[in-house]
Amino acid sequence: AGSLLATTQASAASAIDGILSSNELKVCFEAGYIPFEMKTKDGRFIGFDIDLGKHMARSMDVKFVPVNTAWDGIIPALQTEKCDIIMGGMTVTAQRNLKVMFSNPYITIGQTVVIKPELKGTITSYKDLNNPKYTITSQIGTTGAEAAKKYLPKAKLDLFETSADGVLQVANGKADAFVYDLPFNALYSSQHKDTVVHLDESFTYEPLGWAIRQDDPNFLNFLNNYLTQIKNDGTYDRIYSKWFES
Ligand code: ARG
Repeated sequence: AGSLLATTQASAASAIDGILSSNELKVCFEAGYIPFEMKTKDGRFIGFDIDLGKHMARSMDVKFVPVNTAWDGIIPALQTEKCDIIMGGMTVTAQRNLKVMFSNPYITIGQTVVIKPELKGTITSYKDLNNPKYTITSQIGTTGAEAAKKYLPKAKLDLFETSADGVLQVANGKADAFVYDLPFNALYSSQHKDTVVHLDESFTYEPLGWAIRQDDPNFLNFLNNYLTQIKNDGTYDRIYSKWFES
């Protein structure tokens, strides 16, 4: 027993140490996921996740540093310390949770589909798309892509680097439907009423959480208590209303 104890390693450093010594909270996200994170024409990042990240940084008394990262490489970016945390509307999945730690969910969403207007009436549920004559799009590495494979295995699936490119295929008639997170689809379809139709029946259960590197109970404890605080002191509701109720 003595030798086992002797080989026990000192506990790994928490991301908190790096945040405090650099005075920076580096946040990974992928801009283009409306209304969670967008890039303005003049190059600023705005959205629900961005406001939460800025508020979180302020609560730590450090600077918020945005790290816009391709979705496909966002977990590797976290693991190689390009950022301290992913605040990017990431669904807590079992597979991802084997690689990263997740905070408690900050919002829960589900997958929906947007279809081309010609299919309105023919396609009344996502299930109607499970047919080889339909082409579905989604974004690489997302739960939308996973849901399309799982629930619509007979349809043809085309995956794109960005959600904008995926949904554009439907808007310009090159694909029949786009599978993605409900908030994105609801907002996109309200802004593109002539080119797409939203079927707002969500067919998956997806809690979204903040991802951090493994073996970091200190940071995880901070995040969960921070979330409880903002959910109960009005901060969360104020930021939520700004992006979801306008
Ligand atoms: N919730 C989905 C997922 O975890 C999509 C998130 C996309 N987020 C983004 N910033 N592009 O796969």
